[in-house]
Amino acid sequence: MKKIGVLTSGGDAPGMNAAVRAVTRAALAKGMEVVGIQKGYVGLLNREFFDMTARSVSGIIQRGGTCLYTARCPEFRNMEGVLKAKEVCEEIGIEGLVVIGGDGSFRGAGDLSSVGIPCIGIPGTIDNDIQCTEYTIGYDTAMNTAMEMIDKLRDTTQSHARCSVVEVMGRRAGFIAVNVAMAVGAEAALTLERPYDLDQLAAKMVRTRDSKGKNHFIIVVSEGVGQVENIARTIQEMTGIESRATVLGHVQRGGSPTVRDRVAATELGYHAVELLDQGIGNRIVGFKDGKVYDIDLHEGLAMKKDFDDARYDILTETAY
Ligand code: ADP
Ligand code: F6P
Repeated sequence: MKKIGVLTSGGDAPGMNAAVRAVTRAALAKGMEVVGIQKGYVGLLNREFFDMTARSVSGIIQRGGTCLYTARCPEFRNMEGVLKAKEVCEEIGIEGLVVIGGDGSFRGAGDLSSVGIPCIGIPGTIDNDIQCTEYTIGYDTAMNTAMEMIDKLRDTTQSHARCSVVEVMGRRAGFIAVNVAMAVGAEAALTLERPYDLDQLAAKMVRTRDSKGKNHFIIVVSEGVGQVENIARTIQEMTGIESRATVLGHVQRGGSPTVRDRVAATELGYHAVELLDQGIGNRIVGFKDGKVYDIDLHEGLAMKKDFDDARYDILTETAY
């Protein structure tokens, strides 16, 4: 291929810039031209793009967010939008496209591949909820951010002998919640994947307070489980322990990417370009057994990711 495009789509994630940089530099090194498309599929349909040079990606590896901007594009969900995107790609001479985003973005990439524009998906989402890869760019940074914030929250929770009920991101996946709960020494993680019982949790809190003198509690809740305000109120009513709700929110999506995210982004970006350079499209690049690999886009999207039950159990067994 002589000319490829790169875009970021869906929710941003720290490390997306490192992936854009790797794609650009690797492609230029192979003699390809690179077009940076802004605002994901929106920019593709609206022809918002520019030619990238090695300097276009200077000084971005350490920055959170995405220098290409990102967006959600309802129009791209219809075949009409996909065919229009194909036309734009042909018009500007893009023979292949790298899509950095989550599974929604990959569905779009699959559609575009099926109409003749080979696409490679690079998993970029803080949720780590892409089925066919062990790791997604942004996950580590987001968890470290959440951990640091909950460490701070613990100081005030402890001073007031309260219970803090903290919501972390992950609309449909509890991976962030379980790992962060373990890392901050929380008493419980409430996730969609595992049933929980607030009566039992409250009874345990009271028992531990009375028998072991435990006087403050941290409960991590995955977004999607329910309103943390309601959970905190219920816990307070059941236990008599003063409780507060905290939503960490979008701050988890920002910040300078960790080593893990920069390295993962660079390896995946490089591999994506290697595939396009061989004329291969319709693949997702990811990690399997700790190594970079690639898989058919549709096959990858059809897979199911197991929840980390063993880790959840260890968290529960070591909480009190
Ligand atoms: P993410 O990629 O982070 O999962 P979204 O689910 O919001 O984020 O998807 C990002 C964009 O990908 C959507 O705005 C849309 O343009 C495209 N997309 C999502 N789902 C589909 C689909 N089923 N078919 C085609 N395109 C889709
Ligand atoms: O998918 C990443 C994510 O941050 C989820 O954890 C969260 O539920 C969602 O995006 C929030 O999306 P938005 O940026 O549209 O509020």
